[in-house]
Amino acid sequence: MSSRIHECIVRIGETIKDNKDFLTDLDREIGDADHGVNMARGFTAVEDKLPADETDIGAMLKKTGMTLLSTVGGASGPLYGTAYMEAGKIAAGKTEITAADFGAMLEAAIAGIQKRGKAVKGEKTMLDALIPAHDAFMEKANAGADLVTALDAACAAANEGVEFTKTIRATKGRASYLGERSIGHQDPGATSATLTLETIRDFLKE
Ligand SMILES: Nc1ncnc2c1ncn2[C@@H]1O[C@H](COP(=O)(O)OP(=O)(O)O)[C@@H](O)[C@H]1O
Ligand SMILES: [Mg+2]
Repeated sequence: MSSRIHECIVRIGETIKDNKDFLTDLDREIGDADHGVNMARGFTAVEDKLPADETDIGAMLKKTGMTLLSTVGGASGPLYGTAYMEAGKIAAGKTEITAADFGAMLEAAIAGIQKRGKAVKGEKTMLDALIPAHDAFMEKANAGADLVTALDAACAAANEGVEFTKTIRATKGRASYLGERSIGHQDPGATSATLTLETIRDFLKE
């Protein structure tokens, strides 16, 4: 029997694999055409390695992060790897997640990405989806919304963040080599981060 958290991670992997070409095409515009390929490789390894019966959300996220770290490569491997591992620390020992838990997990994931990648909001990275998503999530959660309702707001903000990345110049990662020419293209990492949040939201709605 597959645990809920195992199923959720598998679902995220399916979304990434379904969007492999899309993410790679976005990275072709402003990078080196490997973001979808990188992430799909990582989630294939995750699917192969993760114990289906693990119910500890923290333990599952930690293993997911370690696997992504060792298989994805590029800039996004260490960044996503760290994000999952840091979120996993917050969820250690938990088999259920509240809105407050998820808010803290997202915050820890963002802090991990920032510590590792030294980027801030507005540099055309995954943070331009994740930071507004976290802000919107907390606004709802602090007003008493449940996890799915807060995630709905987070996903809307993440999508706006992806749109925003089209309007700005990249100053971190490979896309920064393009300078002004990176304007007009949406960031691949912001896109995969948004797809991830949407998959979690949709999974929790079932
Ligand atoms: N310093 C950073 N902080 C946060 N995200 C970053 C950073 N550098 C790159 N990224 C994200 O990584 C994505 C590119 O991932 P990927 O193509 O897999 O790696 P690479 O750029 O090494 O080929 C970008 O779209 C961006 O969202
Ligand atoms: Mg790339």
